[in-house]
Amino acid sequence: MSLSAPEFQFLRTMVYRDSAIVLGEDHSYLLEARLAAVAQSQGIADVSALARRLQRDNDPTLRRKVVETMTTNETSFFRDLGPFELLRTKVFPDLLQRRASERSLRIWSAASSTGQEACSLGMTLLEHHRSATAGWDLRILGTDLSTTIVEKARSGTYTQPEMNRGLPAPLLMRYFARSGAAWQTLPVLRDMLDFQQMNLAAPWRPLPKFDLIFLRNVLIYFDEETRRAILTRVRSVLRKDGYLFLGGADTIRDPDSGFECVRSGTTHYFQLKA
Ligand SMILES: C[S@@+](CC[C@H](N)C(=O)[O-])C[C@H]1O[C@@H](n2cnc3c(N)ncnc32)[C@H](O)[C@@H]1O
Repeated sequence: MSLSAPEFQFLRTMVYRDSAIVLGEDHSYLLEARLAAVAQSQGIADVSALARRLQRDNDPTLRRKVVETMTTNETSFFRDLGPFELLRTKVFPDLLQRRASERSLRIWSAASSTGQEACSLGMTLLEHHRSATAGWDLRILGTDLSTTIVEKARSGTYTQPEMNRGLPAPLLMRYFARSGAAWQTLPVLRDMLDFQQMNLAAPWRPLPKFDLIFLRNVLIYFDEETRRAILTRVRSVLRKDGYLFLGGADTIRDPDSGFECVRSGTTHYFQLKA
């Protein structure tokens, strides 16, 4: 049986409360299509029965499964290329100079999905700035709402089709090893990475100050109020000369955000206003 209007309303409110993801009226079909698989895996007759079960029991495990199913985890290695090119030519050289006495860099891939973005940040450093960072403490934190996705990122295991999306063959050979039919990150890359579950829209655990934050292709799922609240908190964990990269479709509309947009070719990033 398909969802009744009140059941749809109940589910979209639940998804919003737990993730801040906004599902419009026109997302009813998407919700049904994705939740059909959850219902089936739980031995529940259909999506309508799933909604009723959640209303009745408020089972936190089932609730989490439903919310995670509504996340879009689309990602790839070196997604959009432009930001990574800018890291290589401008951002990392600048940060390496500024942090020369500290010899440490803290990078955050917020909404890291299955980890390809964090791996790409690490490979950019290793490929192009390895000798300049020898002996440095380089840490890349990847966080995501979805525990299932974070577990996959932690495993560092990628299928061949995932490798085919954006990863040049020489990098595949240098930073990954065969693991059965899949590929696994090698320690030189893996040791820089740490993946943790974190909801950007809920109170944050204490975080270090970051030199570079990638918050790409996630703000689009939130309403303006949530975007503003997240960016305010991002501001508090970005070092005053740090860099923030958003996705191509994300922007900062609020003139009082405290960020200024810097354009460089076809790419742009944000820095804190002086
Ligand atoms: C489209 S992926 C973007 C991945 C990567 N940043 C990129 O650009 O390729 C969006 C990710 O945001 C995560 N996400 C959605 N809502 C979130 C929230 N409230 N807190 C943290 N992560 C969230 C999803 O689980 C998903 O993995």
